[in-house]
Order: sequence, then C-alpha cells, then structure tokens
Amino acid sequence: MDTSDDAKRGLRQGLANYGDAGFSLFLRKAFIKAMGYSDDALDRPIIGITNTYSGYNACHRNVPDIIEAIKRGVMLSGALPIDFPIVSLHESFSHPTSMYLRNLMAMDAEQMISAQPMDAVVLVGGCDKTVPALLMGAASADVPAILTVTGPMITGSHRGERLGACTDCRRLWASYRAGALSEEEIGAANDKLAPGPGTCMVMGTASTMALVAEAMGMMLPGGAAIPAVHADRMRHAEATGRRAVEIAKEGLRPTQIMTRASMTNAMRVLQAIGGSTNGVVHLAAIAGRLGFDLDLEELDRLGAETPVVVDLKPSGAHYMEDLFKAGGLATVLRAIEPLMDGDCLTVTGQTLAQNLAAEPPAFPQEVVRSIDEPIHQGGGLRLLRGNLAPNGAIIKQAAATPALLQHTGRAVVFSSLEDMADRIDAPDLEVTADSVLVLQNAGPKGAPGMPEAGYIPIPRKLAAAGVKDMVRISDARMSGTAFGSIVLHISPEAADGGPLALVETGDEIRLDVAAGQIALLVAPEELERRRAAWRPPAHVNVERGYAKLYFDEVLQAEDGCDFNFLRKHPRQ
Ligand code: FES
Repeated sequence: MDTSDDAKRGLRQGLANYGDAGFSLFLRKAFIKAMGYSDDALDRPIIGITNTYSGYNACHRNVPDIIEAIKRGVMLSGALPIDFPIVSLHESFSHPTSMYLRNLMAMDAEQMISAQPMDAVVLVGGCDKTVPALLMGAASADVPAILTVTGPMITGSHRGERLGACTDCRRLWASYRAGALSEEEIGAANDKLAPGPGTCMVMGTASTMALVAEAMGMMLPGGAAIPAVHADRMRHAEATGRRAVEIAKEGLRPTQIMTRASMTNAMRVLQAIGGSTNGVVHLAAIAGRLGFDLDLEELDRLGAETPVVVDLKPSGAHYMEDLFKAGGLATVLRAIEPLMDGDCLTVTGQTLAQNLAAEPPAFPQEVVRSIDEPIHQGGGLRLLRGNLAPNGAIIKQAAATPALLQHTGRAVVFSSLEDMADRIDAPDLEVTADSVLVLQNAGPKGAPGMPEAGYIPIPRKLAAAGVKDMVRISDARMSGTAFGSIVLHISPEAADGGPLALVETGDEIRLDVAAGQIALLVAPEELERRRAAWRPPAHVNVERGYAKLYFDEVLQAEDGCDFNFLRKHPRQ
C-alpha cells in the first residue's frame, strides 16, 4: 500500500504507529471497512465534521440535521464526510460553569482534528462556549477548517408578549423576585422562553460569537443569523460541506484567515453589534492561540469610533430572526463598511469586501441603523483601568443606565457567591440604591470558572421599592443576554490576590466610564496593611484531574482564560 509522503492525504495521513506504515494503513482500512465503505469512498479526500450533538444540549438539537446537510454538500463535491464526537457544552448543564470546561472542549477539538485523518474539518458550533472552543482548537491544529453554527432560536410568546432567552428570562425573574409576578405566571412563562432548537436569540454570547466569527471570515457569508429551524440553515450547511472540499484542495488554513487584521475586524463588529462582554474573553483566547495578545486599548479605541448600530436585545428591541430578515451580518457590515478592513481573506477564498460586493442589494429594514443614526454613540464595550483593575475590566456601556456611568458609592462586599446568596436579600443588609455591590472570588480561579455571576441581583428590598439598576462590580463574567451598570472581568481577580480582594464594606468606589476608570478610594498604606493579611482561598489547592490542570494553568481574563501551555509562545 502506498504510504509515501505525497500520498498522505485522505485515509493515509496520520497513521497510528505500529512501526510498519504499510500494516498501519492495512489495519486502518480493515477496520473502517466494517462501516461498509467501498475502496472508492476510502480513496476520496476526507472531510471531518465535529459532532457536538448531546442530549443535554438543546442549543445543538438540530446538529444531526446540519451534519446530514454538510455530508450532502461534501459528497456532491466528491469527498468522503466523516463526523466524529467531541465535547458538547450547554450553559445550563456545565457544572461549575461552561467557561471552566471551554478549554477542555478546545483541547478535545485540537487533538481529535490532529489525531484523525481529515483533509479539512467542518466545525459545528452553537451554544456560547462551543464556537470559541472550536476556533481555539482549529487555530492550534491548523488543518483547513470552516465553521457553521446551529443558528438562533425563533422567539416565543406568552400572553401576547414576545419572549426570548435569556434576556426575558432575567427580566421576568427580576419581576418575580420583586413580587410583581406570581408563582403561576413565572411557571407558565418558563414554557415559552426557549421554544425550540438553536441558540439564545438575543445578542448573547452565542449570537455575538457567530457574528464575530463570520466577520473574521471563518464562516460562509450569512451563516450567523439564519434561525435554527429555517430551511436556509440546511442550505448553508450543504454549501459549507461543498466549500470544505475546496479548502481541503486549496490547503486554506485557519491561521491564514484568523490574523491580527481579521481580529481587529472582529473587535470592530463586536462593538457595532453591542456584543456580549464574553466576546472579549473569547477573542483574547483565540488571539493567544495565534501568538499575539488581544489589544484591549485597541478595542477601546475602536469602540470610541464605532457606534452600536444593531437594535437587538438586551441593548435594543429586536431578536436574531429579525436581524436575519434584515439581511444578517451583511447589513451590519454595509453600515460600518468604511471602518472595516475589507482586504482580509475569508474562508470563501475571497476577501471580506469581495464577499460583501457579491451580496444581494440592500433594502429598507429597521434592525440595523446607519452610523449616523446609531442605537448608541460610542461602542458597546468600554475598557476600564485603575487601582482596582490594574490589568483591566470591562463594562457594557450600551446596556447600562446612563446616570450610573459616572458614580461614586459605598461598597457592599460579598466575599463569594455563597456569601452573596446568603445575604443579598437579608432585610437588615445595609444597602441603598447608591451603594456599589461588590462580588469577590468569582473570577477564573475564584468560583472557579469565572461564572456569569456579574449580574448581581438587586437586593430584594430595593427591587421591591422599584430599584432596577445599581453599579455592580466583580471579577466574574456576565451573560450577553443580561443588562445593567455592571463592571466585569476585573483583573487580576480576587482569588489571585488582585486589589478586588482588598475591598471592604464601607469603602468608597468611583466609576467613571467616560474616563475609562474604576478606583478604590482607599489610602495605599491601608491597602498594603490589608494585603499583608490576605490569603488565597483554599479551593485553589487541588491535587488531581482536570481541576488540577485548570488551577495550575488558567490565565486571567485579558488572556482569555486559556491555559498557559495552550497559547502560542513566545507572545508577540
Ligand atoms: Fe445555549 Fe444560550 S444557552 S446559547
């Protein structure tokens, strides 16, 4: 059997090592023939397809149909599609958090793409952590790769009101906590919030990462916004399968598409769509795999010149199916075209500008505004620095209360998620609407897994009195579907000895979003005194398993919470 170098495509590549390459191929063919393949099929180029279906993952409920459509496209183009399972993560079924497990999925993707014979791979993402994990793994494996997604859910309806996960989950739950919604009504609404397959249909992390990945050039045009149940979703999957065969022949690799320039485009789009703060963490992790740091100052600069033009919840009014009907990402890119680098290569083999020029003409719509009439002047996200966040923090200013963007208040500190759960609703909690709620030890190592706990609930007694928003700060993340005047990703985190660990109830904290600053108004000598008494939480001392790997290697938010040994070294 031919095992020469130039024949190492298709089934012949990456043989298991038995010390005799001819025997390895003979054995491989013997086993794969048990699947019923002919020699003709096995001589074709192989297109791997990541199978992220899981009975726990409703956001990936349509993956079997998508895989069938991808396979159709691959076979129509004369190659052999083979799907293979990898870790699947759903936000609500990933204890302690999906972020804790994202790097496990990325390692799985990288290793299984590298270990198994494939000339190109189709990545099927969807739920929040899956797209970044797949792109991180693909960047490191650097086998020709193309992404598609499961697509957003369509909206639900409850007693005449249009509902979407999970912005409306949070809004309704807040009403229930405030006593404005009965037990019976919150239960009835629970049936309607997630009415079918696909990802959260607001501008949450899944929508954000799908749009950003398309803007980066890793997905065929139009793929991010097609609803999960729409026939176009399957046609897009079929086209993705066809294109996968071509990139296998061309040898077009992820590192040719995901570059510094396309990362800048991704950050630009992140700002223009009012995207999830989680997008910053994930882009930083992908950048790390490519060998460079995400430039947070650049993100801030881009924000200053890029208004939010997409009118989607939680910053705006519409849902992803409305963006799809309005033309999807192409309409967004047209709105900000002068700001984009149109020369970036995409997975079509054409540049971003060429792809956009090939789109059907624009038409009147109400979801994407022009840059002259935006939803929010200045981008969605703002970088904050100061003595409380020397390595940075993020606020989604587009989803904050304007009056709170410049605010000084007295800290009410919760030392952990458990402490917060125990005391936040206590009738004797000394808190007013002007207080600054502070959550410690909820960062990458703290909770662990940097949970989406930054959306600290308004204390029940204030919520009942009609308080809808307060300044809240933490080293945690926040769901992209959430909203409020919330400072996130404070770095270094409290569990790593960051200044956040030193805040005490009663301290004054000043937030000045316009100036990009967050400050703890406590004398340096007092902070030094507190630092001398600080000890790391006991739970970071782990002896075995994935937890040990996690605590030994996880990086802070500005490095995307990737594992140190997985990013590309040296840093550039
Ligand atoms: Fe999967 Fe929201 S829970 S995208």
